[in-house]
Amino acid sequence: MNAPTSTTEIRNNLRLWYLQHRRPLPWREDNDPYRVWLSEIILQQTRVAQGASYFEKIVQAYPDVIRLANAPIDELLKHWQGLGYYSRARNLHETARTIRDQYNGVFPADYRQILALKGVGSYTAAAIASIAFNQAKAVLDGNVYRVLSRLYADSTPIKTSSGQKHFQHLADALLDTTEPGLHNQAVMDFGAMQCTPNQPDCTNCTLSMYCQAHQTNQATQFPVTIQPKPKRNRFFLYFLIEHNKEILVQQRGASDVWQGLWDFVHIETAQHPVDSFDSITQLESFASGPFVIHNTYQRKQTLSHQVIHAQFIRCNCTYKKQIASNQQWIPLDALHRLPVPVLIDCAIRHFYT
Ligand code: ADE
Repeated sequence: MNAPTSTTEIRNNLRLWYLQHRRPLPWREDNDPYRVWLSEIILQQTRVAQGASYFEKIVQAYPDVIRLANAPIDELLKHWQGLGYYSRARNLHETARTIRDQYNGVFPADYRQILALKGVGSYTAAAIASIAFNQAKAVLDGNVYRVLSRLYADSTPIKTSSGQKHFQHLADALLDTTEPGLHNQAVMDFGAMQCTPNQPDCTNCTLSMYCQAHQTNQATQFPVTIQPKPKRNRFFLYFLIEHNKEILVQQRGASDVWQGLWDFVHIETAQHPVDSFDSITQLESFASGPFVIHNTYQRKQTLSHQVIHAQFIRCNCTYKKQIASNQQWIPLDALHRLPVPVLIDCAIRHFYT
């Protein structure tokens, strides 16, 4: 069945808009699947402007999938530091090893095989299949939801499983199957640059004559979302325990945020402890006194589902206690080499630079 004329015109207008306005992004120099995959993993939870510099840094360190597979995970995590959502880096590493060991270092071209790779969901698989292998798979990300919901003044709530199916059908119907990679990137750039969340430039828009939301002056009412749950507040009391120019650090476990990254010994409390006597009592569970408390620092970090309120106490201990298997004493001047969450990096900078 032929697409309605307006669908064909929307596709053509998007294509022409993209050829004129597309962003010169580093992974667009060629359609090498390794670079496309790496960029799409970085962009899963990161804005293009921030992601581009990380992409350049990582591709310079690991120009191909084999070099990425052979890298130590801690080194990759260090390059990733500041990007957040560190499971992306761990999955990236595992997938690089899968491609090295199971696919002879050649990125799989089949959509099902791409989708089976660790860290690759339906959005990322469609992006890689279309951009690197020209397969007719439509992507659905935040930009695409916005463009489609406005074009069709569609109030189906996004980010629900039925909303996702519904908008995937709309994206599939609009896809230009002759140039799917170009089309997908066109819709994403159009959403990011023209059809922006708060102040879309509707008066200079190549799609305004087809846009049902614009015609009723309602562009910013779309997309419709369901209110997210409020974020959970958590209170961490960190101890930076030093002894003879060494500091006690520990690697985070699998069951909480920042898996595999390093931080300092700490306890989690229901609220910030108000009195310092309480803090010292807690400190004694990690090191032996007498202690000298140097200084303290507070900082908050907002993550996707929680807000971490951290209090840091820097101190010297007289004796080292026996440490757990995930803990280590390291020289103070080696601290900057550890992959750490941004919150911890801020504390390190505060105390030691
Ligand atoms: N966001 C995620 N991937 C993208 C891409 N390839 N082009 C534009 N925006 C994107």
